[in-house]
Amino acid sequence: MEQLTLNINEKSRTRIIASSPYGIQIELMEYVGSEDVPALMDVSGSLASEYGESARLTKATIRKYFNYPKTLPFVARYRGEIVGYIIGVPLEYFAHDAWARFDQNLGQGNTLYTYAFIMLARYRGNGFAKTLKRVYLNWTKKHGYRYVTGHVIEGIAKNFSPATVIVKRFTNWHGSGKTFEYYRRPIHNASAGRGF
Ligand SMILES: CC(C)(COP(=O)(O)OP(=O)(O)OC[C@H]1O[C@@H](n2cnc3c(N)ncnc32)[C@H](O)[C@@H]1OP(=O)(O)O)[C@@H](O)C(=O)NCCC(=O)NCCS
Repeated sequence: MEQLTLNINEKSRTRIIASSPYGIQIELMEYVGSEDVPALMDVSGSLASEYGESARLTKATIRKYFNYPKTLPFVARYRGEIVGYIIGVPLEYFAHDAWARFDQNLGQGNTLYTYAFIMLARYRGNGFAKTLKRVYLNWTKKHGYRYVTGHVIEGIAKNFSPATVIVKRFTNWHGSGKTFEYYRRPIHNASAGRGF
């Protein structure tokens, strides 16, 4: 009983990776305390509107995907509120998923798969997502990864760096009825530097 109480009251633990005078801060979330659970569920809600209800985070799936250090969840916080997140997961985590076997780097320990990238709708198009992604790529580079990969809707990856390649296309990805492309982005040339 005491243990349960302790867990419920446990605070979030995050490591600040970058912050700006404009109030946006990027944090690596090492533990999600109960105070941040509703905000994460809220942010994931807009993923559900595009990818179906299974994409919406629940208390249980938050623990699965925000599971540092097995996963690397970065959140964007604006004026104290979580407004977006991007989650990197080492490719080997998916070793038993059929799609991962198409990646020649599986087993090399050099690839971070981008599991989710999302920003609350009212904060899109204002540079927050760009900042979150840039900090994520820089962190990834500094920690020895050579590639970032992920599944995106067909046509999106051509907007990434010119060195990005499409490894494979997946029709009706996870029953969405849409074609997704699995891209690989080399990060050795990603712009270095700290913060903003
Ligand atoms: C994806 C999302 C976070 C982008 O936010 P935004 O404010 O519209 O951002 P921008 O259009 O300015 O794009 C920011 C950067 O992210 C990149 N980007 C866009 N969609 C992306 C995706 N699915 N995966 C990776 N990068 C993506 C853009 O190319 C841009 O890169 P750049 O900084 O190198 O130019 C936002 O549209 C969103 O939350 N969408 C709903 C969730 C979703 O579909 N996520 C993708 C699948 S998990």
